Amino acid sequence: MKTIGYAIVGTGYFGAELGRILKEAEGTKIAAVLDPVNAQTVAAELGCDVETDLDALYSRDDVDAVIVATPNYLHKEPVIKAAQHGVNVFCEKPIALSYKDCDEMVKACLENGVKFMAGHVMNFFKGVRHAKKLINDGVIGKVLYCHSARNGWEEAQASISWKKIREKSGGHLYHHIHELDCVQFLMGGMPKTVTMTGGNAAHQGDEFGDEDDMLFVNMEYEDSRYAILEWGSAFHWPEHYVLIQGTKGAIRIDMCECGGILK
Ligand SMILES: NC(=O)c1ccc[n+]([C@@H]2O[C@H](COP(=O)([O-])OP(=O)(O)OC[C@H]3O[C@@H](n4cnc5c(N)ncnc54)[C@H](O)[C@@H]3O)[C@@H](O)[C@H]2O)c1
Repeated sequence: MKTIGYAIVGTGYFGAELGRILKEAEGTKIAAVLDPVNAQTVAAELGCDVETDLDALYSRDDVDAVIVATPNYLHKEPVIKAAQHGVNVFCEKPIALSYKDCDEMVKACLENGVKFMAGHVMNFFKGVRHAKKLINDGVIGKVLYCHSARNGWEEAQASISWKKIREKSGGHLYHHIHELDCVQFLMGGMPKTVTMTGGNAAHQGDEFGDEDDMLFVNMEYEDSRYAILEWGSAFHWPEHYVLIQGTKGAIRIDMCECGGILK
């Protein structure tokens, strides 16, 4: 197998972590990283070069693919430039904060013949894959309803991360897009209608960002099938699960343990 040369753009919490995993993976070599804040430290740990310019990074002979792990609102430029240089892309979620940006990014990759993968990890979790297999094998019958929750409580913050600013993260719906992707995977396809309610119930003021802290999405499928997804940081009873109700049985996947219960 050819060794794939990687660049990483954005080496904060997740970009650096993906780098550590890549470093141990077979058939991969990290060529260089680019990050205005911590590239030097991460490059020293990963044993690779530092680049400060995207065009220079993507022009390197040893860069076949890039991991883009910049903040959500800064994915577009590194993705489109990578495509223009013929570099394959793994882009962290959410790919973009608007349909227009997402469309441009996907088209740039298609037009330049490079692969484009989004960092939607949930469908690779063991519990989710197992649940999908049980559904495909007919064990719980026809799936009638999915309910996901990713909830917790946010205390006052000493400084406000970009993750809490709606313009930069997109808020819970975008930043925690995993459940939307996963529930569609489990239900099998796109709903016919989607409605959403939500708001900022308990986190106003200087010690908080401006994202909504309660979001409820209601999806209606053909054949009277439904899904309800909830996210938020205004829940003192923290929960993270996906519940699947079928005509013959039900599965509850605990997303913290990533194990599940079949009834
Ligand atoms: N798939 C998952 O489960 C998962 C988990 C965590 C984070 N993420 C995603 O990964 C991305 C990064 O999140 P994070 O938690 O690592 O955030 P972070 O704030 O820890 O890291 C972001 C990094 O990007 C750097 N950066 C900012 N502007 C840049 C630019 N123009 N060019 C290059 N680097 C730049 C920052 O200096 C910082 O080091 C986000 O899109 C996030 O949604 C995905």
